[in-house]
Amino acid sequence: MKTAICYYSRHHGNTLKVLEGMAQEAETDLIDVTTRQTVRLEGYDCVGFASGIYGFAFHQGVVNFARQYLPEGKPVFFVYTYGGAKGTGAKAMAALAREKGCPVLGEFSCKGYDTFGPFQWIGGIAKGHPDARDLENARRFYREIRERFAGGIQS
Ligand SMILES: Cc1cc2nc3c(=O)[nH]c(=O)nc-3n(C[C@H](O)[C@H](O)[C@H](O)COP(=O)(O)O)c2cc1C
Repeated sequence: MKTAICYYSRHHGNTLKVLEGMAQEAETDLIDVTTRQTVRLEGYDCVGFASGIYGFAFHQGVVNFARQYLPEGKPVFFVYTYGGAKGTGAKAMAALAREKGCPVLGEFSCKGYDTFGPFQWIGGIAKGHPDARDLENARRFYREIRERFAGGIQS
């Protein structure tokens, strides 16, 4: 299964850490939406979209990327990290996928070290995350996604 994951990860690189863990499971093209101006996703069997949560949402760059480049009907999944409040980013991405007739294979999330705003004064929250267990859970999620895909998709 040929997979790309389009991502935005800036605050502490937490989301990228998770994606790199997943990429150990199977060869995966990790596409930074801030450096890739254009991309062809048609050739992939499946496409992931990943982001830290900023203001309760996926980064707008990831949303725009999906809106612009996600082909109709392409199976998708979502990955995100957050400090303490997941927000509705994955829900919004699922709605976008529905508009394009794309089956959603699943979503993975875990906490990510957060020093945004006042949290910096207390040394941050979700310290040490993603940790080894988060990364193992992420790899398992990715394995299961791939198995589901191989067994035929039911969305
Ligand atoms: C500007 C900004 C806004 C954030 N908003 C939220 C939020 O609404 N909910 C939350 O749980 N965490 C929030 N966080 C924390 C990040 O979601 C968390 O640290 C995440 O792991 C960052 O991912 P990254 O290191 O891949 O960028 C915010 C962080 C920043 C910098």
